[in-house]
Amino acid sequence: MSFRDVSMETQVELWKSHSLCLLEAIGQVVVVIDTEGRITAFNSFAEEMFGLSREDVLNQPFSKVFEHVTKAYHYPINTIVKGEELNKKEVNYCPFLRKEGFFLHDTALIRNQMGDIIGAMWLYQDITEQRKYEREVAKAELLAAVSELAAGTAHEIRNPLTTVRGFIQLLASKHANEKDYYELMLKELDRANKIIGDFLALAKPRANEMGLCSINHLIEDILLLVESQANLHDIGVVKDLSGDIPLICLQPDQIKQVFLNLIRNSVQAMPDRGLLYISTKLSDQGDFVLMEIKDTGVGIPADRMAKLFVPFFSTKTDGSGLGLTISYRIVKNHGGDIQVESEEGKGTVFRVSFPVSAGA
Ligand SMILES: Nc1ncnc2c1ncn2[C@@H]1O[C@H](COP(=O)(O)OP(=O)(O)O)[C@@H](O)[C@H]1O
Ligand SMILES: [Mg+2]
Repeated sequence: MSFRDVSMETQVELWKSHSLCLLEAIGQVVVVIDTEGRITAFNSFAEEMFGLSREDVLNQPFSKVFEHVTKAYHYPINTIVKGEELNKKEVNYCPFLRKEGFFLHDTALIRNQMGDIIGAMWLYQDITEQRKYEREVAKAELLAAVSELAAGTAHEIRNPLTTVRGFIQLLASKHANEKDYYELMLKELDRANKIIGDFLALAKPRANEMGLCSINHLIEDILLLVESQANLHDIGVVKDLSGDIPLICLQPDQIKQVFLNLIRNSVQAMPDRGLLYISTKLSDQGDFVLMEIKDTGVGIPADRMAKLFVPFFSTKTDGSGLGLTISYRIVKNHGGDIQVESEEGKGTVFRVSFPVSAGA
């Protein structure tokens, strides 16, 4: 072996170990295939995600290793066949793991010094958690901005409204023949006042009314308020309130506001007859009280789900679009959470959870 050969060999070894390091340093799934479709590199992230060991898949045809997955998803092979690279292609389903979420694909053609294609590299990332986190942060930022706005301007608007209301009442008493107009003006003013009141509730829930309460009792209180409306729309109410949930430390008025809005939303979603199920139970681990409000109403189209908690998002002619924003804020302030599931035309379920240990 000549001196030159040794140095070539060392260089090749060096290059190999460099590229191995690189494959790991990328921090996501990397699979490389040659033009025959055989796997030539499979990093540890790929091993972990697909539950396969490198030894078992190296030099095996990609299409055989992933034969359980439709060919449309054989990204590196398709890249070679079509000669088209993928750039941060985001998809909502992972056929390899058979799960929904957010996944990012990149592919790159690998060429030799002459420019001929000798393989393809596939980079794959599960960004579901990251997306969820981004959404939470965006929601929290939005809420903070709204709260600031609310605190700063609501009082400023309310004060002149009170003055205007007073004068309208005065004028109304002097012009009895135009009573209808004045009544309408007062009604509209009261509506504006109510929206401002809701808005103020966003700013900061008062922290001094915490007390140990029974979620079941709060629900019963609210049901009394909506019962007549439910009857009017031919809505049956089914309660399944568990007898052995602990008392929880919370602000009853705030939580009642949450329940009222959720139940009212459900009732409004069933304009002509339906069923409203309300249940409470303790989580399996005993650490959360879980409440479900389920309706057989119009449901929520998938593209609308992300907007539900956005301030002022409403599909109702007389809606403020603040109900869910405020409810979310209140529940979060109690250390809890609200989740929604819905099917258009079938119904919706809102799940609210409260930590048992929150203030106990
Ligand atoms: N149970 C439900 N069924 C169908 N749609 C709902 C339900 N709850 C909420 N929504 C949708 O979410 C929107 C926002 O609700 P919310 O914040 O309470 O404001 P509002 O009730 O004033 O419209 C509603 O306008 C409606 O489109
Ligand atoms: Mg509402």
